[in-house]
Amino acid sequence: MSILKIFDTTLRDGEQTPGVNLNLHEKLEIAKQLEKVGVDIIEAGFAIASPGDFEAVKIVAENIKDSKVASLCRAVEKDIDRAYEAVRNAVSPRIHTFLATSDIHMKYKLRMTEDEVLERSINMVKYAKKYCNDVEFSAEDASRTRVEFLFKVIEEVIKAGATVVNIPDTVGYTTPEEFGKLIRSIKEKVPNSDKIDLSVHCHNDLGLAVANSLAAIINGANQIECTINGLGERAGNAAMEEIIMGLETRKDYYGFTHNIDTKQIYRTSEIVSRYSGIRSQPNKAIVGDNAFAHESGIHQHGVLSEKTTYEIMTPESIGLAKNRMVLGKLSGKHAFEDRLVELGYNLSKDEIALAFDEFKKLADKKKNITDKDIEALIEERASEIEEYIEMESFQINSGNKLISTAVIRVIVKDRVITESATGDGPIDASFNAIERALGINIKLEEYTLRAVTGGKDALGEVFVRVLDRNVENDKIYIGRGISTDVLEASVKAYINAINRMISEKGEDILNI
Ligand code: KIV
Ligand code: ZN
Repeated sequence: MSILKIFDTTLRDGEQTPGVNLNLHEKLEIAKQLEKVGVDIIEAGFAIASPGDFEAVKIVAENIKDSKVASLCRAVEKDIDRAYEAVRNAVSPRIHTFLATSDIHMKYKLRMTEDEVLERSINMVKYAKKYCNDVEFSAEDASRTRVEFLFKVIEEVIKAGATVVNIPDTVGYTTPEEFGKLIRSIKEKVPNSDKIDLSVHCHNDLGLAVANSLAAIINGANQIECTINGLGERAGNAAMEEIIMGLETRKDYYGFTHNIDTKQIYRTSEIVSRYSGIRSQPNKAIVGDNAFAHESGIHQHGVLSEKTTYEIMTPESIGLAKNRMVLGKLSGKHAFEDRLVELGYNLSKDEIALAFDEFKKLADKKKNITDKDIEALIEERASEIEEYIEMESFQINSGNKLISTAVIRVIVKDRVITESATGDGPIDASFNAIERALGINIKLEEYTLRAVTGGKDALGEVFVRVLDRNVENDKIYIGRGISTDVLEASVKAYINAINRMISEKGEDILNI
């Protein structure tokens, strides 16, 4: 069986998803989970894009041992310098440089001729090669590129030393049949294309990213670029979990192996959706809430007598916890610790002590604590950023015949500030009170609430997206809060988003 290499770009293309803004700590946590799930290459970011991106790529490169770490860069010397600077300390660094090759991009974006693009591609691969043996070249918009020119570019960058050549369907335009043929013709016609890894990178504008990627590997590609949950520019990239479970479930057809530990797929998807603030739709293949739910009586009956009647893969195969009712108020620290280990967490003594405290507080409010509750608690801690502002207390008055009022007390660096406000409902009132207390100019763009588990005492998880009104480019910050009380979860989420703004922009955004 051939081995497929998985190149994960959740931290680069995935972070280009509108509204996603991961902090350094979250990027590192995601990278560690990507290493654990077994991806071959982690594209950690676009080092030259900003000092924050550079720092994130560098930290990931210094901490990841089992996956290669790549940085994206344009085919420009200063970009390549910065990319190498960021990945140089990785155990296995890769420079990933790209240049568009389609007529439309060359004419309107680059304003370059074919000869100029060819020359630049060759020179920049050679330039990157001075730093690093592992150099990937992407012919951006390859699927809309004149085929003879694409072949020429591939042939020449291989001669220049590229170890991987990537064929992106940048705008999600191709179809499985067409893309498969293109990949096959590259393998057949481009000299030395069997000496390199041939990669594909498909966008999902027509909903075909996974199908196109799979068609490519049947026809000779051996690396797929993808993201967790299919995050990415516009409609996103090919979803890693769909590709891998396709290969697993249809081994008989595809005949590929891979290095992914499928039992880590669900956990990886959850972490990415928590940190990105983007939850997959319920009917999303593999990781959506309904992916293993059987609604119709006929289906339920079939599954009860023989699972394979309607289940082509098991929830256990992606590590979907059975959501056991595990612990309660009387459970001791040992039982809690054992459960953490069974769930795959590897926490330090201090982290376990903090998590156990949170668990005890939750157990006071919620009778039965399930695996999902524990995961939510641990991941809330993991994504925590410095709490510049702490919520001390809140009191909210609301009713169908009342104007909602909220009194909020926050602590900002030892200073206690109390403010009240009215609003259109209890959440609006409490957010208004927080804004007043902090003198901050922000706007709530999106609010979502979901129950982590079922039951009346379920943990509620609130996500907010908050717009900083002081900047022109509409910067969005996400915030997350969990509690058995949805109003408390909402207040925590709003303050969490403000803390993220402060950690990036400093306390000057407050007017207190
Ligand atoms: O979609 C694309 O073409 C890309 C490249 C930079 C690989 O993301
Ligand atoms: Zn892309």
